Amino acid sequence: MNHKGISIAIASAKGGVGKTITTINLAGVFEELKKRVLILDFDLSGGGISTALNIPNGKSSYHLVYDYNNNQYQEFKNYVTKYDEYIDVLASPKDPRQALKMDPKYVEIILDKAIFNYDVVLVDTNHDLTDFHVLTLDLVDNILFLVTNDPLDLKNMRSLISIFKDVNANNYKVILNESVAPFKNYFGIYDIKNIIKANIDYVLSKDFYIKNIDKFVMNGKIITLDSKASSFFSKDYTTLMGICTDLFKEGEKNENA
Ligand SMILES: Nc1ncnc2c1ncn2[C@@H]1O[C@H](COP(=O)(O)OP(=O)(O)OP(=O)(O)O)[C@@H](O)[C@H]1O
Ligand SMILES: [Mg+2]
Repeated sequence: MNHKGISIAIASAKGGVGKTITTINLAGVFEELKKRVLILDFDLSGGGISTALNIPNGKSSYHLVYDYNNNQYQEFKNYVTKYDEYIDVLASPKDPRQALKMDPKYVEIILDKAIFNYDVVLVDTNHDLTDFHVLTLDLVDNILFLVTNDPLDLKNMRSLISIFKDVNANNYKVILNESVAPFKNYFGIYDIKNIIKANIDYVLSKDFYIKNIDKFVMNGKIITLDSKASSFFSKDYTTLMGICTDLFKEGEKNENA
């Protein structure tokens, strides 16, 4: 494959809002759409993708960077671990000391190499705005911001979005994730839009709260690839499908422009 895929970062202004689970669920939906997906775990210190998917302790982005620096870089596929026929993972460094060596200059190098090997590169991030993450958000084609119905989260998101507005960047969509803490319903959608001063593009509803999510995680399973998911969570499955198809259409439009 040598056409250019699309890159999408899943980001937030607060921790624990469902970025990692959403990244994995989107990968599952892209697989249903027969797209080759790379999950790039850029949550460098707390990277949970490999753990969530029971990916064995193999190579990580640190190995790629190390080899690149030492003129030993091999093909991209040597650094990823296969989840299934459609989904590969580039794991985050296993050791915090390795994570510290991930200089921001490698963001572009990794993204550039990844994008020509996959239809979609999904980048799981961390809410800390380090240089590494700012550059990641700067370089990806699209950003999905996840917010919850939580005052602190919403206020932080307003600041984050205002930075994007200041630089006229509009390659982001906002997802209100009600599924991660369904008991939190202090604000209505209208209030939330007012607080963050931006539109809510998609909502993952309370119905998508999965009681036995830990079982999926323990078994390394992707919820959206479960045969019952599309009927059991039909509304939210359709939303996730909509997000994937919207982003893909936009990507194709940009490629043809
Ligand atoms: N749809 C859901 N139903 C039930 N629990 C969920 C759902 N989505 C996420 N969770 C749970 O919420 C917690 C936070 O989710 P997740 O790890 O995806 O958030 P995160 O934004 O990636 O966190 P961090 O900022 O620490 O990386 C996890 O324990 C996860 O299992
Ligand atoms: Mg996470």
